[in-house]
Amino acid sequence: MKLSSSTKAILGVAFFTILFHAGSVLAAPPDAVAGKAKAQTCFACHGENGIGISPEIPNLAAQPPLSITYQLIQFRGQQRKGGAMEALAAGLSDQDMRDIAAYYAALPAPPAKSGNAEKIAKGQQISNTQYCNSCHGPQLQGQKHIARLAGQSSEYLVTQLKNIRSGSRVDMDGTMGSAARGLSDDDIEALAAYAASLN
Ligand code: HEC
Ligand code: HEC
Repeated sequence: MKLSSSTKAILGVAFFTILFHAGSVLAAPPDAVAGKAKAQTCFACHGENGIGISPEIPNLAAQPPLSITYQLIQFRGQQRKGGAMEALAAGLSDQDMRDIAAYYAALPAPPAKSGNAEKIAKGQQISNTQYCNSCHGPQLQGQKHIARLAGQSSEYLVTQLKNIRSGSRVDMDGTMGSAARGLSDDDIEALAAYAASLN
């Protein structure tokens, strides 16, 4: 049978529409209860309450679920490396990631941390002038695939901002790389203190 090019185009669209819907039907909705069971190995470092056990380990509590999932995908694909997370993510399926993300996302946000008032005020000023909140949310609470910074460990934030600035941590779409490029070490310290001081 000979098909006209317009028929082929219609068949092509239909094929992708079917694939797309098959994908969304086959993927079970995220399940936080299953996620808790799957996250047992994570508790040793990220805590059952989603609070990292030491300053270099990020808090996951109240992180947007898409942000957690995307970071795990990046660790699994080894686009992002650090803290043995590549090995830990290697064994997780997409469904495991969505379930674990649902569990951590639903936990209460980490408490605000006190810090040097001058540094915090400077950080807030830089955050406003650099539009950090346009992506990370008005209170830096994160949204969609963009991480929560509020209440995060300031040590962790400093490390990540320096890694993103130097390019040793490659971000998924380059937007965060551009945002970090112009920051000085002092800016980064101030921004981290400000973010940590939020809840
Ligand atoms: C041995 C300690 C350890 C264990 C166990 C561990 N992590 Fe991590 N995790 C880390 C460290 C350290 C980092 C920061 C890595 C870096 O420096 O980039 C991290 C980063 C992350 C991030 C990125 C967070 C962000 O804000 O970008 C996610 C998500 C994450 N871990 C999820 C998990 C999950 C899910 C598990 C369990 C399957 C797990 N981790 C187990 C230590 C650990
Ligand atoms: C255009 C949107 C955008 C702007 C503006 C932006 N960010 Fe981001 N940021 C992102 C995205 C997207 C990610 C996730 C990057 C990735 O890993 O792929 C991210 C990640 C981060 C991370 C890593 C968080 C973690 O848990 O690992 C930090 C820290 C951060 N941003 C701080 C800032 C600061 C400070 C500013 C202002 C100077 C800023 N961002 C401005 C989009 C943005």
